[in-house]
Amino acid sequence: MSRALNTMNYVRQDCAGKTLILALPDQGAPELLYFGEELPAHTNIESVYLVLSSALPNSSLNEPYRLSLIPEAGRGWMATPGVEVFSNELAAWSLAWEVHTVNENVAGFAIRLEDRHAELELIFQIGIKESGVLGLSLELINTGREPVQVVRLASTFPCLSNFTQKMSFYGRWCQEFQHQTSQWNDTWIQESRYGRSGHENFPGVVLGESNFSEQTGEVVGAHLAWSGNHSLRADVAMTGERYLQAGALYLPGEEVLHTGESTKTPELLIAHSCQGLNGVSQQFHREARARTKLTKPRPVHINTWEAFYFDHDLEQLCLLASRAAEVGVERYILDDGWFKGRNDDTSALGDWYVDEQKYPNGLTPLIDHVKSLGMEFGLWVEPEMVNPDSALYRAHPDWVLELPAKEHLLFRNQLVLNLANPDAYVAIRGRLFDLLNHYDIDYIKWDMNRDYVSPSGDIHPQALAQVTALYRLLGELNDAFPELEIESCASGGARVDFGILNYTKRFWTSDCNDALERQTIQRGFSYFFPPEVMGAHIGPDKSHTTSRIHDVVFRAGTAIQGHLGIEWNLLQATDEQKSNIADWIECYKAHRELMHSANLYRLPSVDGCAQTQWYLNDEKTEGLAIYSQLAMPKRVHPDRLRLPALEALSLYRVEVIAHSPMPSHLMQQKPAWWQQKIQLNGASLERVGIQLPVMDPESVLLLRVSVADV
Ligand code: GLA
Repeated sequence: MSRALNTMNYVRQDCAGKTLILALPDQGAPELLYFGEELPAHTNIESVYLVLSSALPNSSLNEPYRLSLIPEAGRGWMATPGVEVFSNELAAWSLAWEVHTVNENVAGFAIRLEDRHAELELIFQIGIKESGVLGLSLELINTGREPVQVVRLASTFPCLSNFTQKMSFYGRWCQEFQHQTSQWNDTWIQESRYGRSGHENFPGVVLGESNFSEQTGEVVGAHLAWSGNHSLRADVAMTGERYLQAGALYLPGEEVLHTGESTKTPELLIAHSCQGLNGVSQQFHREARARTKLTKPRPVHINTWEAFYFDHDLEQLCLLASRAAEVGVERYILDDGWFKGRNDDTSALGDWYVDEQKYPNGLTPLIDHVKSLGMEFGLWVEPEMVNPDSALYRAHPDWVLELPAKEHLLFRNQLVLNLANPDAYVAIRGRLFDLLNHYDIDYIKWDMNRDYVSPSGDIHPQALAQVTALYRLLGELNDAFPELEIESCASGGARVDFGILNYTKRFWTSDCNDALERQTIQRGFSYFFPPEVMGAHIGPDKSHTTSRIHDVVFRAGTAIQGHLGIEWNLLQATDEQKSNIADWIECYKAHRELMHSANLYRLPSVDGCAQTQWYLNDEKTEGLAIYSQLAMPKRVHPDRLRLPALEALSLYRVEVIAHSPMPSHLMQQKPAWWQQKIQLNGASLERVGIQLPVMDPESVLLLRVSVADV
């Protein structure tokens, strides 16, 4: 449907239990009248518009600006505008839009706007997806005769005035997805200038009414689906409007549009929930599932990194594969160290040829061995990077993404390769295609281990073009090798976002395999992403990144919460350890289908010393609760486990399926129910709950809940 507008129009979309209503004035940008739980069909939209009109305050414009979805400086919005453009010839910095046409499409509405004085057009796309998530994006088109420079192009989402609380994310290498909750009453800005979504600044935030929690409160979760520099802003205007803005961050002069050229923002994803953070997460999980379209169970991995690092010995690698197959592993990933001259992290990135000293007959003998054991084969690569000590760099020093005239600062001894340089792109693409055509490779772990400093191929900044080229390359690989799965890794979780999830099927969540740290990292990750894309590995007893020691139950009970893998030299494991691992792999296989399609609930902990993940299927017939005691409980008995969302009247059987050793130093006797077969209805499991035993810190308990046979 396409229509020309000459008076105030309204459009409404109902989808996935949500309603979106926009007002489209003939002068000015579209206004969000409502986005949230579905409103009755007969709701009078004109009345909604009317009741939202505010009084004319003193000391104000004669006609105050109603906050729109593209706030306009040129119509009197004196806080941060949605779009700012610089032109030498036209007044493009103070924009005022007019709606031109509206197209209803599968994704919602595509609204075309123009500012004739600035000779610019804008296509604003907004709509609710099947997942319930709202998507917003902007495309700016230069219809004028002169080039213009984009200063800001950000999607704006107005929030309710009672949204006074915010949950934001921070982190670092080995400590990704940490979160903090604070009051939101003023300006909050988060920027990533690392060239990737980054360890420090995950491009997401949650805003909501005060005291929102996992289970309660009206909240919106926002995420920018983009893997590069970004800027998020949550602001409160003097007039009281609250709004969130998100877009790619443009370095000075980075985005210049010549006549007829356009640029599009990454999509801003908004999930609204009246059931607190769990409601937000469940919608993001549905959205992730719609993107990854996984068709087979997530196979158990073994990854060679912490087993051998750069020390590749074919015999040992084959032995590891045999041990892994014995315990039930299904996919073998050969990590860093396999290519020419790569004996440590100082050299060889860029030289994507098999090291003939380590592999005299290429990778085929190892791959054949892996395949003969019934496992898939995966290979680590880091295609965006180059070491100065490499044949590639020696031949093409000008292919790096660095200001040529400045000193090139190394980061993990490496530089970024400029993928927007067509020659560099073709060369890297060619190596990847050759490897994939030559070898029987099912999986690629695509790494990216440094931030950008002065990203440029000439004198202009070029961080944006690099991400675009990366997406193109990933897209070409997906098209050419439809069975291939790609994992996004960036020194652990420095590139975890919905932008790259369009091309990948798993994230390497963190280089930290310490189960205690992992519990917090994984919880933060789970606010936006579902378990099946969360790479989680069982490391050795003593963590390589923290030196903490954990037993195999806590390590496995933590890793099982994601896409399970092993990153441990099993050749050094005892028979008892291997048998434990085999049991946990079996447990993972028995529950992965449930966990990887379930609605996930994070359950509250009164003293903050524990966390529980509750996976419940759509039909509410099968559930799995993983209770993790992280620290010593503050009171003798831990909380009762109260399991939400079951069918109130259905009878459920509750079974303990795995647990850490139950300590006699804390508990003389387990609760009476432990030895019995519990059968309780859903209402009682939610409202009464189950009193848990006294457990050691750093221990787990898994309970399976299934509808009882009648
Ligand atoms: C990064 C990754 C690790 C490993 C190494 C290899 O740090 O996050 O998992 O692949 O690179 O160099």
